Amino acid sequence: MSASPITDLLDDPESQVESGRQKIDWARQHMPICTTLETEFADTEPFAGQRIGMAMHVEAKTAVLVETLAAGGAEITITGCNPLSTHDDVSAALDAQENITSVARRGVDEDEYYDALEAVIAAEPTITVDDGADLVFRINEQHPELIDDIIGGCEETTTGVNRLRAMDEDGELDYPVFAVNDTPMKRLFDNVHGTGESSLANIAMTTNLSFAGKTVVVAGYGDCGRGLAKKAAGQNAHVIVTEVDPRRALEAHMEGYEVCSMREAAPRGDVFITATGNRDVITEDHFERMQDGAVLANAGHFDIEVNLDDLSALADSITEVRDGVRAYELPDGRRLNVLAEGRLVNLAGPLSLGHPVEVMDQSFGVQAVCVRELVGAAQTGLPDRLLGAIRDRFGGGSGHSAVANHSYQPGLHPVPDVLDREVARIKLDAEDIAIDDMSDKQEEYANSWRHGT
Ligand code: NAI
Repeated sequence: MSASPITDLLDDPESQVESGRQKIDWARQHMPICTTLETEFADTEPFAGQRIGMAMHVEAKTAVLVETLAAGGAEITITGCNPLSTHDDVSAALDAQENITSVARRGVDEDEYYDALEAVIAAEPTITVDDGADLVFRINEQHPELIDDIIGGCEETTTGVNRLRAMDEDGELDYPVFAVNDTPMKRLFDNVHGTGESSLANIAMTTNLSFAGKTVVVAGYGDCGRGLAKKAAGQNAHVIVTEVDPRRALEAHMEGYEVCSMREAAPRGDVFITATGNRDVITEDHFERMQDGAVLANAGHFDIEVNLDDLSALADSITEVRDGVRAYELPDGRRLNVLAEGRLVNLAGPLSLGHPVEVMDQSFGVQAVCVRELVGAAQTGLPDRLLGAIRDRFGGGSGHSAVANHSYQPGLHPVPDVLDREVARIKLDAEDIAIDDMSDKQEEYANSWRHGT
């Protein structure tokens, strides 16, 4: 069965559209990178004739990205990348536009989730934009006949990039995809600051509890874990980090956090936050040792970091004790409180708003220039008017990779550094922040191996 556009399903689509529009307009005011690119795209229409299929968290910031791409002339079909993260009003506001169809809806079951992905695929995208790689995976596995017409794709998150890397290594990734997650402008801000701030904010709002004086256990000291640990410590929590990678564990130790195994941390934590991108990080053995009232939240992409099958099997009863908080009562009377059903706590909870707007502006700015790069590379060169616009903004004609006529082969690709720098420049301009330029002498020194003591 195919999913329907959301506006066909809502009781009062007009008021939903209005409410969604308000949220999108607020986000847009704080997204100078996307709006700068939107103006460029409206002028040059680089995506005319392209069909973009998207599977992302459908909320206000994502909507600004969708509209940025639509301004460039693309037809867009979008669904969610998580059953609980869609904001229906935002989805409706997108769907109300002529060249955008949104089939994203909050609270879908597994079949409905995959039906919606199928609806995006049925629009025969020429470009995919994914968060978690469900779309690209499904196209590769189940719709290989579409691949000849696909120019390429972009992937937003670590888990998606890991999945695509594994596909690529197995020779199973049949079209080029940019690892947007891995660029500095995405990873060092979105994963570190975005996940840290928004996860802690959502845990605090959902529980109405403080971090001060509590022991917070952060599982995984990657980019997300670093941000979580730092922000929790900044709110006066005692932070324990668990890891499986010896270098990351040492890094956490040298940052001043206590590092130990999850088994040791289990009886001590008041709040547990997983951010590993792995599975079964907290399991039966750990639940058995936890304190009454412990709060469990996951910030990793999939809902398999806290093993809820194990916890359900241990529990005598499961009760919704607050909106977004499920208490699992164990036979000895201890209650373990799981937030957002073990899904991304900053996106899937009832109060979740995702990352701060400014952070997503950067991530989505990278997405937008990557889509432009894919189209530019697929053509024999960019249209003259787009070339002109880029040269006007950046001066000269040198070195802009969007005009490099790369040919991207099937597989996972790093985002060209020049695109990442372009996004950083737009942001600095918007913030009216000036930085120094290297002199010729400095440039020569920095690039030479001849200078010694
Ligand atoms: P990363 O790869 O930089 O870090 C993950 C860390 O977890 C690594 O250091 C790894 O050694 C560690 N790890 C793996 N298995 C473990 C285990 N069993 N116990 C303890 N540590 C373990 O990844 P990153 O960028 O920090 O992302 C983590 C997850 O968060 C991914 O699923 C990613 O997709 C997701 N993510 C979520 C966001 C959100 O909005 N909530 C935003 C960005 C990423």
